[in-house]
Amino acid sequence: MGLRLKYNLVLVLACLLGIAAATVLSYVFVQRSAVEDVKQNIRLLRGNALAVRSYTLNHVEPLLEDDSDILFLPETVTAFAARTVFDTFRGSFPEYSYKESALDPTNPADRPDARERAMIEQFRADPELDQIASVLDTGAGRELTMAFPITITQEGCLRCHSTPEAAPPAMIDLYGPANGFGWQLGETVGAQFISAPMTLVEARARDARLMLIGGLALVFLLVFVMTNLLLGRMVLTPVRRMSALAEKVSLGDFSVPEYRKPGRDEISSLSASFNRMRRSLERAMSMIDG
Ligand code: HEC
Repeated sequence: MGLRLKYNLVLVLACLLGIAAATVLSYVFVQRSAVEDVKQNIRLLRGNALAVRSYTLNHVEPLLEDDSDILFLPETVTAFAARTVFDTFRGSFPEYSYKESALDPTNPADRPDARERAMIEQFRADPELDQIASVLDTGAGRELTMAFPITITQEGCLRCHSTPEAAPPAMIDLYGPANGFGWQLGETVGAQFISAPMTLVEARARDARLMLIGGLALVFLLVFVMTNLLLGRMVLTPVRRMSALAEKVSLGDFSVPEYRKPGRDEISSLSASFNRMRRSLERAMSMIDG
């Protein structure tokens, strides 16, 4: 096997290993950072929903408190406000969704599906758990859903969610006395579910990976071409010439011209030494002949 072939085999092997390692690493890191991006989007949306809740509770609801016997406006309810604001937001970003579910909801539309119910049960079983993230493959692409527990931490919530007798009569007229009661202080009654699409960040992650691996392949190609050119010019061509010369001289043919590789590297000094050896040999032969 020639030197060039040996060198290229080792180089190609190193390139393949390098590209394989880069592919695996970039897949793990880029994918992780894509998921982190989506999670951050969801946290922002949640922060906004919490702000809407707090605004409704502290600024809107007190305005109607005095009339609550005769008038009940769902617009003053935190859950209603958060959902309605999000529905408006979905006008521009339809692929996002927001839901506040409770195991025993005031509004039947807030009943959890099987997947949501399992997550709520998980929160109820583990009070330390403050979020769950899960990825679902919907028909239109992958979607990340994050769930956050809703725990009753304020006495004020119990006015409407403890017993039908304690709740504003006008609210009972609207929602009925059957659902959304019996909640306890400190109890996790439900969860917020916010979903965001992963298609966009995944496409961006794929592009980033392709760029990285493409760039690496290009660098390897350049290294391959340039080192091969150098190897040929600095080592292989001079060695081949010297070897052909040595072949002739060893057969007693001293008519071939000397070859001296220009420069000061190892091959140049080898060519100089060879020339000296050849002259000594020629002199010794002529002495024998003479
Ligand atoms: C003035 C009465 C009132 C108060 C006070 C109130 N809620 Fe509600 N809550 C409601 C009504 C009515 C709904 C149903 C709204 C709708 O149509 O979506 C609701 C809905 C909810 C929901 C969505 C699930 C469901 O039951 O439909 C959650 C979760 C919830 N409330 C939690 C709370 C928490 C936590 C507090 C305290 C910060 C609170 N609520 C205070 C009346 C109230």
